[in-house]
Amino acid sequence: MPMLAKPHQILTDALHAEYAIGAFNASNMEMVQAIVRGAEKHASPVIVQTSEGAIEYATLPVLSNIIATVAKASPVPVIMHLDHGKSFDMAKHCIEAGYTSVMIDLSPLPIEENILKTKQVVEYAHARGVWVEAELGAIVGHEGVKELHGGQTPDSFFTDPKQARDFVDRTGVDALAVSVGTIHGAFTGQEYIRFELLEEIQKAVFDVPLVIHGASGIASKHLQQACTTHVCKVNVDTELRIAFERAAGAYFSEKHDSYDPRKIMGPARDAMQLVVEEKIELFGSSKTAAIY
Ligand code: G3H
Ligand code: ZN
Repeated sequence: MPMLAKPHQILTDALHAEYAIGAFNASNMEMVQAIVRGAEKHASPVIVQTSEGAIEYATLPVLSNIIATVAKASPVPVIMHLDHGKSFDMAKHCIEAGYTSVMIDLSPLPIEENILKTKQVVEYAHARGVWVEAELGAIVGHEGVKELHGGQTPDSFFTDPKQARDFVDRTGVDALAVSVGTIHGAFTGQEYIRFELLEEIQKAVFDVPLVIHGASGIASKHLQQACTTHVCKVNVDTELRIAFERAAGAYFSEKHDSYDPRKIMGPARDAMQLVVEEKIELFGSSKTAAIY
């Protein structure tokens, strides 16, 4: 398997099929290994994505080299993706570090500024063969609103289908993250997907893969249904973190005298891998790695 896979063919194939590729956040070695091992168990391509916070925590050279090294040894295609990039410079640094895909998330900006600055990233990335995802609308839990009552996304946050068409045409992005009711983080258990809105967006921007953020906490049947639409990438972070915390907590609740970090990190890695496997199963991309 080549060093790192490019998303172009993988996500375009998903656009014309009824499955999506899982995109899982990582900030250390065990998370990267859990994600790629989970994908290998299902013979599925996978996206290992890093937020700006993960890059700050681990540093870009360390984190990108962990992902690239694990990807190089894997039989499945592994895409390395910048999640919620907030600036041209961050996208540029990641592209220089070998990322095959970047998200530039300027959704908090006024639309015209979002379009202008997103276009700059698209031009820079495309000149280097790198895929670009952007976001239109706001997904609660990252863009400002931290606490929700009743798990409802404010109407003004939802992606507008007409605006989405104009945005894609004027920026040239390869994929569009949409706000259709999902929420970052496991909020209230009332997270939902507005399928009627998703369908309108899909009709308007029929030509680009859609991305669902905030998949943690979404009912399995709704995730499965979403993956049969033009949703081609589904982001999961919080459920991996919960699995990690539960496994580490189980260790500390027992008496031990090992004082060995591997006794904590190993079971936590296995627990996160199970979440990855469960999500890939739901997203329907098992056994599609053979195509590449
Ligand atoms: O960008 C990352 C994902 O949107 C994380 O969402 O923590 O709700 O799974 P989640
Ligand atoms: Zn997100």
